[in-house]
Amino acid sequence: MVRAVLEADLPGPRINRHLYGHFAEHLGRCVYGGFWVGEDSEVPNEGGLRLDVVEALRALDIPNLRWPGGCFADTYHWRDGVGPREDRPTMVNSHWGDVVEDNSFGTHEFMALCELLGADPYVSANVGSGTVREAAEWIEYLTRADDSPMARLRRENGRDEPWRVPFWGLGNEPWGCGGGMGSGAYAELARQYGTYSLDHGDNHLYRIAAGAADADYRWTEVLLQNLGRHLGVGEVTGHGTNTYQAVSFHHYTIVGDSWDAKGSATRFDTDEYYRTMVKAAAIERILAGHAAVMDAYDPDRRVGLVLDEWGTWFDVEPGTNPGFLFQQNTLRDALVASVHFDAFHRHADRLVMANIAQTVNVLQAMLLTDGDALVLTPSYHVFAMNKGHHDAASLPLAVRGATPSRTVGDTELATFSASASTKDGRVLVSLTNLDATEPLVVELDVRGVQVGSVEGHLLTAPEISAHNTATDTPVVVSDLQDVSVHGGLLRVTLPAHSFATVGFAVS
Ligand code: AHR
Repeated sequence: MVRAVLEADLPGPRINRHLYGHFAEHLGRCVYGGFWVGEDSEVPNEGGLRLDVVEALRALDIPNLRWPGGCFADTYHWRDGVGPREDRPTMVNSHWGDVVEDNSFGTHEFMALCELLGADPYVSANVGSGTVREAAEWIEYLTRADDSPMARLRRENGRDEPWRVPFWGLGNEPWGCGGGMGSGAYAELARQYGTYSLDHGDNHLYRIAAGAADADYRWTEVLLQNLGRHLGVGEVTGHGTNTYQAVSFHHYTIVGDSWDAKGSATRFDTDEYYRTMVKAAAIERILAGHAAVMDAYDPDRRVGLVLDEWGTWFDVEPGTNPGFLFQQNTLRDALVASVHFDAFHRHADRLVMANIAQTVNVLQAMLLTDGDALVLTPSYHVFAMNKGHHDAASLPLAVRGATPSRTVGDTELATFSASASTKDGRVLVSLTNLDATEPLVVELDVRGVQVGSVEGHLLTAPEISAHNTATDTPVVVSDLQDVSVHGGLLRVTLPAHSFATVGFAVS
């Protein structure tokens, strides 16, 4: 049994809906086969975009989509991906499978996808192998309304009105695939690219400097020191305001001893399961570390922290291209996601965006495509069940007494995780029981409000390794049966290895 107190009348920072963001890279079958099948495909599509994928993601209210990478972004030259498809040059996707990319999915296709999804585009500029001019012209092409050279080119390519592009990434992993730079060299470059990443008309870019790997807090510090003239988010760029408004970092849940042995996505024992959860839970400490560095330079919290790649990374599915990073997705992945979201909600005062890697067919995917079949993964259901947290006010939730835990190696892993928020007269509580074998009774003392009728949803399966395929879907959401409320005391029984959400009206 675990007891916790929820202060439902003390709303805290807003949980930015962009914490539920997504990522689509030209990698394996994410874009090609995942989002894009082409207009001639027998798979139902609109202008080449897969409609089942669009529909499934619209149901999640996905707030933004990051593209074209990842490592690919720093090899991508946007001019190769506009104009008549038959005239577009090909290129080699050197990072992912060394395959030939035909550029049939380019800027217009991506922006059409965002429009269909109702998602904000997050475009990553090529800083590693591109030029400042190339990046500046891409923004002009995307967002300028008048008769400028790039706006004219866009019109020649069939799009009259400019698009709205709120999020603009300045490269990706510059310490690695994005150019092998040190933090100082990259910070200088980010300032340069940021300076020429102009706002056109009423399109205001939120420029995101490419950040640290995991707990490299020094990288974050150097970025904060080089931000621009002033700390803070400027309405107008270029003169007197910052050259970038946010800094990012990446954190993957990787369990194995080496890159060549990260473990199977579907075949793992209980020890490996718990070690996965230790890695996932580390996000709390890493978020706190970056936030502490940022607080020292930016106590008013005007600079955003963005986790624009996160998720599990296991060995690829046997028999698939090692460069395509295709892995199955089990209930374990879903619990990794729920633990991350609890940490995101607790750091909502600093963390403004996060992007799961990646949306379709790559790493911790929401969706898997198999020919014309679409599979909703267990992770997808966590995003769906947590939808009520989008733009809600976070609520303080504290365990009273000892948090259930177990010793895993030299770490004490909390096996209970929870977070809560309030919006539109309702409260949503997310609850995770990580224990592999034992159920957990949760008693939540809800303070400061009258609790109305309660409804709950549950995600679990007999096995932690359960996963969905085109022919078998053992991991689905059901109604939470074991939930009751007496006065302000909410009592829930969480089965072993489960995630639940409980929602109720408050007055
Ligand atoms: O998501 C796969 C890759 O992981 C991305 O391209 C890169 O940024 C990271 O290393």
